[in-house]
Amino acid sequence: MGSDGVTRERTGALTRRAFLVGVGAAGGAGAMYAAMGALGLAPEDQQKDYTPPSRSDFALSGRGAGSVVILGAGIAGLAAAYELGKGGYDCTILEARDRVGGRSLTLRGGDRLPELPGPHQEGATQEARFGEGVYFNAGPARIAQWMVTLDYCRELGVPIELFVNENSGAYVYNHGMKAPVRARTARADTYGYISELLAKATRTGALDRRLTAADKDRLLHFLSEFGDIGKRYVYTGSERRGFATYPGTGAGVPFDGPPALSEVLGYGLGRSIAFPFGFEQAMPMFQPVGGMDAIAVKLADTVGRDRIRTSVEVKKITNLPDGVEVEHTGGSARADFCIAALPPHVLARIPGNLDARVVAALRTPTPVSAGKIGLEYRRRWWETDERIYGGITETDLDIAHIWYPSYGFHGTRGLVVGYYNLDEDAEAYGRLTHAERQRRALTQGKKIHGEKYRSELLSSVSIAWHRQPFIEGAWVAWPSYEGAFTLLQRPAGRVYFAGDWLTHLIAWQAGALESARKVVTQLHQRVVKEG
Ligand code: ALA
Repeated sequence: MGSDGVTRERTGALTRRAFLVGVGAAGGAGAMYAAMGALGLAPEDQQKDYTPPSRSDFALSGRGAGSVVILGAGIAGLAAAYELGKGGYDCTILEARDRVGGRSLTLRGGDRLPELPGPHQEGATQEARFGEGVYFNAGPARIAQWMVTLDYCRELGVPIELFVNENSGAYVYNHGMKAPVRARTARADTYGYISELLAKATRTGALDRRLTAADKDRLLHFLSEFGDIGKRYVYTGSERRGFATYPGTGAGVPFDGPPALSEVLGYGLGRSIAFPFGFEQAMPMFQPVGGMDAIAVKLADTVGRDRIRTSVEVKKITNLPDGVEVEHTGGSARADFCIAALPPHVLARIPGNLDARVVAALRTPTPVSAGKIGLEYRRRWWETDERIYGGITETDLDIAHIWYPSYGFHGTRGLVVGYYNLDEDAEAYGRLTHAERQRRALTQGKKIHGEKYRSELLSSVSIAWHRQPFIEGAWVAWPSYEGAFTLLQRPAGRVYFAGDWLTHLIAWQAGALESARKVVTQLHQRVVKEG
């Protein structure tokens, strides 16, 4: 990539990070982005030329692959074992939870979801009662087409399908709006009025210092089409707003409107309209067929279930001159190397002899809170009654978003994500019992979808990621991408660190996969060189 390309990439990184803030966080990360920009840190390149370890790499030296104990059977830990396995490494994975996948968690009927006690409440365990074929991706739920995650799906034979990340038939609903407005209507009005205003500024000469006469013509031509404002350059509404009665044998009945400019500005569309422009959120996006956990399950099956010990908690990590000793609730494990693929704030609490600077670095990023609720309905009213097939309703309520399912179209039941919120909103919901979370989510969603949002409900499960045992956060935020972040890119003795939290793809499985590849490469190069 040339230097211009690098610059663009950096700008993109800022935008992507800004998105993470925009999903719900309100500040705090600004300093991080400023620091990243000032440093001009080029993100670790996606390892396009990644070469997995191969047994033949040892042919000349006659050395062997050696053993590795991996802490955490999340995506990073599983991918590290999978890649090392290609080189013949003897890997063992220790996982504190009772299943693989970590945050890549798909819940189905019969699954149990324990929760840590909060400061003022007991931990409770929910049991999902979803019907056959209904699932809830409680963690990651969408994959961009450029992400390495899709390469793993291809390699592992995990079938994928489209994930509908934006839908003009979904709604926008913000405080102060009289009623929810379809995204297509809100966009038509917003683009229309903005085009009208910009055309007026152009035609009255307000932009003459920036525009030549030819530029003005071209801009007016663009605005006429972009805003559907014709050659009078006035927005009076258009069919783009949608129809009260759809066209068919008759012409259909378009929506009345548009409302006044000031009401349209009140849609506050900037936030929700900008989100699918994001590099990480643009359509098309994808999901594994049958649930996101298909990736973790396939990785684990390929690694070999006999190499993975679940429900064992790491108690101590000791770097030795010639290996690593890991004590856990099921005994101890000794290996030539260790890859610690746990959340940094959890890893930082585990005793051992890691250097104090390393422990301080692990304590540096802050966990981000996020919550979701999966609402199972007896019928797919969003499809039948409202003609919404997948996609997301954007709100500024404490539920933030409502997601409609991108699978099971025209089936009987279906599962809607009734909130996906971050930070204070996630913490507020997280403090409630599940029954209270459900009640609150239904009260909010009813403002958009009416009584059926409550009356058609069959069951639900909610997750507060900051209260998940052995995870304690949805993802992390770094104060800066220097210092601690850089330190942990290198091993501490024979202990390596891996996870999305060590990449510029925080909160994406792609980050975990890229990090695993990087650490596997570092470790393998060391073994080939030093034995
Ligand atoms: N990767 C997370 C999402 O798409 C932040 O919601």
